[in-house]
Amino acid sequence: MAASLPLGLSWPGDNQLKLTPNLSATFHAYVHIPFCAVRCGYCDFNTYTSKELRGVSQAEFHIPLIQEVNLSKQLLSQWAIPARELTTVFFGGGTPSMFEASQISQILESLEDNFGFTDGIEITLEANPEGLDHLKLEELKAAGVNRISLGVQSFDQKVLDVLDRVHSKDKVIAAVKQARELGLRVSVDLIYGAPGETLESWRRTLEQAIELGVEHVSAYSLIIEEGTAIARKIARGELAEVDEDLNADKYLLTEELLGKAGLKNYEVSNWGNPSLHNQAYWQSQDWWGYGPGAHGHISGARFWNQKHPATYTAALEKGSPAAGFEYLDERTQLEERLLLMLRTSQGVPRSLFRELGVPTELVANAIASGLLELASNDQIKATLSGRLLVDGLVLDFLSKSQA
Ligand SMILES: C[S@@+](CC[C@H](N)C(=O)[O-])C[C@H]1O[C@@H](n2cnc3c(N)ncnc32)[C@H](O)[C@@H]1O
Ligand code: SF4
Repeated sequence: MAASLPLGLSWPGDNQLKLTPNLSATFHAYVHIPFCAVRCGYCDFNTYTSKELRGVSQAEFHIPLIQEVNLSKQLLSQWAIPARELTTVFFGGGTPSMFEASQISQILESLEDNFGFTDGIEITLEANPEGLDHLKLEELKAAGVNRISLGVQSFDQKVLDVLDRVHSKDKVIAAVKQARELGLRVSVDLIYGAPGETLESWRRTLEQAIELGVEHVSAYSLIIEEGTAIARKIARGELAEVDEDLNADKYLLTEELLGKAGLKNYEVSNWGNPSLHNQAYWQSQDWWGYGPGAHGHISGARFWNQKHPATYTAALEKGSPAAGFEYLDERTQLEERLLLMLRTSQGVPRSLFRELGVPTELVANAIASGLLELASNDQIKATLSGRLLVDGLVLDFLSKSQA
């Protein structure tokens, strides 16, 4: 949940959107929990420490979230979108593990009462290692959570210090073991490319994650966001700049080690047993984004909420927490499909390039230079070296398209 909201149309006072239902889309919920104990120096997500909350109570914040769940049910019916059960729920943050399990449980009850859950629903909660112990994990499981996405970042204490993370390697090891013993699915988030991190340090982080037997790894290269503490330290010369070549080596090492351990890459930054929730985003399914700054996507319309928990709550009291929306035209939807799906191992149908007016020779050149490949089912996919450059490649295709 990035810090800035897009520009778009102001949310209509009567809450009315004009939509043509996408009858084949599955339905998903994202719930944003906008609280953190401290802000990590590299992070510009929409999250707040206790001093920044302008009187909002974290202990009672499940109440407006449940109010929005009830509102969403009413609005979907008002927009004539047929009711569907939820296929996934994702509690993201911020730090969802700072919520009491009873708060999570009440939100899940409300989602289930309003929409129902499909058999085998995936319910993920993002957690910081320092916020988990055996009891908390047990309570979260009893509440219905079946997948934990743990913000590990690194197993190297020096890297954790550079990133301002407050947990230790031992805490992560204990949390993963406890979660697995309880039968929870476990994913870990890792970051590579922190100033001072060597290839060897990253290798040890990957090896440790593999040794813990997690079923899924997300590995992101550190993005230096403008205005963050880490960006200022780099600008002052206190920390080294990101080394893009070293980062490319780290990516290739990630693919090698995770691949050997049986965790198959299925999206540029993701390996292992796929997250159904993330796949729903990439496939442009329908989802509602609950909570401050959260984005929803229903039948080709995108909408987003007020950012600060206080403005979110105040707007909700007046009838809707939404700040703005946009109808995605057909061209924008096709462009998004190319941007998101070319990052996946599935790739995109060859016909998509034609529909977007991407000159054939550009695609042929990318295949000839080993960045893309044509699979047997007429899908075009990024190769391993192509994955490192795929976002830039797509932007280049779109800037030269002739539609
Ligand atoms: C926003 S956090 C929320 C979950 C939890 N608080 C945590 O830190 O893991 C989700 C993921 O985004 C990653 N992230 C945040 N800022 C990032 C950045 N500038 N570059 C790369 N990854 C980032 C985090 O490290 C984390 O793994
Ligand atoms: S704990 Fe997670 S969400 Fe909070 S500041 Fe750190 S990275 Fe961002």
